[in-house]
Amino acid sequence: MFLLILALGCSGTDSGDDTAGDGTGTDITGDPAIGETLFAACAGCHGADGTGGIDIGGTPSADLTVKVPSLTDDELADRIMNGFGTAMPAQYTDSQDVADVIAHLRLTFP
Ligand code: HEC
Repeated sequence: MFLLILALGCSGTDSGDDTAGDGTGTDITGDPAIGETLFAACAGCHGADGTGGIDIGGTPSADLTVKVPSLTDDELADRIMNGFGTAMPAQYTDSQDVADVIAHLRLTFP
């Protein structure tokens, strides 16, 4: 139990958590078509076109057309699996789901 808490506590700082690494590509190939359907969960806050700016409890959602090209796969996996800041909760924790979403993000927001 202590180790679990420790692992969760560290994950936000991208301390080399293996789980996040697994979702990003070396051994898992993302399917952008599946990722497109999974993106529906993101679209509620970031907009169908990803441009964001939607007020989420006082914090505007990020513009994915700007953010995605500037983040690495590991960083995107971290945001998706752990959430970001106080306004974006964790979205997907399954490595395949995360890889699929990232494949869709890379195609849509190059
Ligand atoms: C409940 C609303 C909500 C959902 C659902 C959501 N996001 Fe976010 N997201 C936000 C907000 C708000 C921010 C900005 C947070 C901040 O700046 O503190 C954000 C920020 C981001 C960022 C920028 C992080 C950075 O490093 O600046 C990325 C990338 C992102 N979201 C991707 C996604 C993806 C991909 C999904 C779907 C799997 C998703 N978000 C689902 C609200 C959401």
